[in-house]
Amino acid sequence: MSHAVQLCRAHATITGGAFTSPTRGSTNTVPRPTPKTMPPQGDPLLPPPTQRSNGLTPLPVLVQNPTGRFRVISTKPLPGTRWIDALVEADCRVEICTAPKTILSPADITALIGDRCDGAIGQLTEDWSGELFAALRRAGGRAYSNMADGFNNVDLAAATRYGIPVGNTPGIASETTAELAVALTLATARRVVEADHFMRDGKYDGWLPTRFIGNPLKGRTLGILGAGRIGTAYARMMMEGHKMNVMYYDLYQAKKLESFTAVYSSFLESLGEAPLTCTRAGSVEEVLTQADVISLHVILDDSTRHLINMERLELMKKDAILINISRGPVIDESALVEHLKANPLFHAGLDVFEEEPKMQPGLESLANAIVVPHIASALMFTRAGMATLAACNVAGALQGFPVWPHHDDVMPFLDETASSLPQACPSIVNAKELGLAVMGTVNGSAK
Ligand SMILES: NC(=O)c1ccc[n+]([C@@H]2O[C@H](COP(=O)([O-])OP(=O)(O)OC[C@H]3O[C@@H](n4cnc5c(N)ncnc54)[C@H](O)[C@@H]3O)[C@@H](O)[C@H]2O)c1
Repeated sequence: MSHAVQLCRAHATITGGAFTSPTRGSTNTVPRPTPKTMPPQGDPLLPPPTQRSNGLTPLPVLVQNPTGRFRVISTKPLPGTRWIDALVEADCRVEICTAPKTILSPADITALIGDRCDGAIGQLTEDWSGELFAALRRAGGRAYSNMADGFNNVDLAAATRYGIPVGNTPGIASETTAELAVALTLATARRVVEADHFMRDGKYDGWLPTRFIGNPLKGRTLGILGAGRIGTAYARMMMEGHKMNVMYYDLYQAKKLESFTAVYSSFLESLGEAPLTCTRAGSVEEVLTQADVISLHVILDDSTRHLINMERLELMKKDAILINISRGPVIDESALVEHLKANPLFHAGLDVFEEEPKMQPGLESLANAIVVPHIASALMFTRAGMATLAACNVAGALQGFPVWPHHDDVMPFLDETASSLPQACPSIVNAKELGLAVMGTVNGSAK
């Protein structure tokens, strides 16, 4: 018998025997047993998965907890193991697609779903259209979660039509994502990547007073479009680290950011330093004309697609810095390329692109743009946390758990020292439309 088969059998014995699905008691928590997750193993003992009966090319999967009652697929291997533990605790058989393909097509995912699938975890690169939710529904699916904060890749109306709760993973990535915005801001302001290339190209022939002059940040105006969780975290970092004044535009007042500014300014004044300001602008244009650094933190929807277009680029200062870690289509990327070409003092730092994984031709040769491949949430803690939240969304929905009420505080799902998981789905974006119960409320009112 091969080692893989032995491991798989051992795991099946543990999960199928002593380790059964959690009971639904009156408490809010599920006892968390000692983690039983093992490195995922293939499952050669089981008959071929049922998805192969739909005629589509099968994709390789690794199986955890083969005897689990609910079949849950993940379109990708995910970081960490706690996400698998959460699903196994909920009596799920977890099938993890290992196809060596970065972006799965709808046909690939339909094949994975097969003709029996209770829940799915997907990625922001995948097109979760009505077609996929129909396939999931046909297969008996009752839960889906993106492993992402944004869900612009999901046809929410279709999922709702099929009665499928759609989870996302907000909150966990806010600081991490904001940090990359800070990194791009500093790198563009101080021309780090240009200077790095200059060195590697062997062009450095000695210090010069005029070489690679950058943009100052201290005391300048930071423009935030979308002052939600990430916009606020980034603004705070730039205020604390670089003493920038903030001007923001959002549909709502950023109360947390404004009160932070007041408290932090008092602290600065107590040190004899100048206070900082945080001003809510009346329009996007007001921010663009006044800010030295403009950072985009809106969600992507119809109101924000091409929020930054040619006309709005023209309003910005000629030496402004534009940062985008939100979603690519928030900027008209071809207009940005033209603007960068025409304005060499203007800089852009981009983590996301309009037609990922492609970037607009011309961008690759522009020294005044820094481009990175959508890595804003790429810390192990964050990505593993996102995976855990996605798994808890699916596991919770399959067990009929209510929705977690504290949208901005998902840490109880991630606290490794806690002995139990909250008995709730961390974040379901169509909960209201589906009439799902919220934990701690009765008919929508607080208990
Ligand atoms: N690059 C990455 O890896 C990465 C990681 C996490 C999140 N994101 C993106 O960042 C986005 C924001 O995340 P968040 O957690 O801060 O979300 P959030 O919901 O807390 O904040 C979004 C803010 O945008 C505002 N907004 C929405 N429409 C607007 C409009 N038309 N004009 C002005 N403001 C508007 C909202 O009022 C809200 O305050 C996500 O939706 C996601 O697309 C990217």
